[in-house]
Amino acid sequence: MNEIKIFSPATVANVACGFDVLGFCLDHVGDEMVIRKTDKKGIFITKSIGFDLPMEAELNVAGVSALAMYEATRPDFGFEIEIHKKIKPGSGIGSSAASAVGSVFGMNELLGRPYNKTELTQFAIKGEALASKCEHADNLAPAIFGGFTLVKSLKPLEVLQIPVPDNLYATIIHPKIEIKTAEARAILPKEVSLQKAITQWSNFGSLIHGLHTNDYQLIKRSLHDAIIEPHRSKLIPYYGEVKNEALKAGALGIGISGSGPSIFSLSEGIEQAENVKDAINKVYSKTNIEFDTFVSKINIDGIKII
Ligand code: HSE
Repeated sequence: MNEIKIFSPATVANVACGFDVLGFCLDHVGDEMVIRKTDKKGIFITKSIGFDLPMEAELNVAGVSALAMYEATRPDFGFEIEIHKKIKPGSGIGSSAASAVGSVFGMNELLGRPYNKTELTQFAIKGEALASKCEHADNLAPAIFGGFTLVKSLKPLEVLQIPVPDNLYATIIHPKIEIKTAEARAILPKEVSLQKAITQWSNFGSLIHGLHTNDYQLIKRSLHDAIIEPHRSKLIPYYGEVKNEALKAGALGIGISGSGPSIFSLSEGIEQAENVKDAINKVYSKTNIEFDTFVSKINIDGIKII
C-alpha cells in the first residue's frame, strides 16, 4: 500500500470539569487527509485545501507530528501529506488535533502499524504543541482512541478509555469567531482556591462514575466547571444565554468545547439533543454572529481509513 485516505474526527476537550485531561470524539465532522509514500526522503505537505495553512512541514501541525514519527522511524522513503481541512482552525473542536493525528495515523498504516495508539498520541502531541504552545493530549486521545478518553498522565503518556453510555448525544454550536488556544490559556489563573479544586474533582470523579454506570442523572449533576468557565466564558458572546436555554431545553449539561468558541452540550437521546440545538439556534439567530450547530453521536471508533 502506497497511499491512504483517512477521516480524522473533530473532538471536544475538557468536557466541563476535566480541563486538559478529558475529551470525547465526534461523528461526521472532521478532516480528510491523504498520506502517500514517496521515494524522496522527508515529509512534504503537498496540498492544503479548505483553509490557508503553512506548507512547510516544520510550521504545519500535521507536518510537525509527522516529522516526530519520521525521525523516530527513519524509513528509506518519505511521505506526502494532503490536507482537506474541514474543521476551521480556532473553532474549539480539535482542528489542530485532527491534523496532528491524521498524518501519524496514516503514516503508521503505510509503515505496517509499528506503533500503538498511545505511541501515535505521543507523536501527535508535538504537532498539537505547535498550535497551542503547550503539550496536552485531551483532543488527540479521543481522535485516536474514539469515545471518551482520560489522559491519566503525559509523562509517561497514559490514556484511559472511558465507556460511552449508548444514548449519549452531543449538540455543538460553533460561533464563527476565532479564539486562539494559546490566548485562551493565557487568561487562566495559575493558581486556584482549595474550595474550587474540591468542587472540580468531586464533579470530575462523579462524571467518570456516571459514564461507567450509564447514570445520566449523575452525569447531569457532574457537568459543571468551577475553574475554567468563569474566565473563558467572557470570550464567547451570549455564552450565558446559550447555557440557560440549553438547560431549559433539557440538556444534561453544557460547557465550552476545548478553548472555545464552540460550546458543547450533552443530552440523553437524539430527540433531546435536537431540542437543545433548536433552543441554541434561537439564541444565536437573534445576533449578527454567523454560526453552525449540529448534533453528533459520540464516535466510539475515532480516526479511520476511508
Ligand atoms: N485543554 C485544552 C484547553 C484544549 O482547553 O486549552 C484546547 O486545545
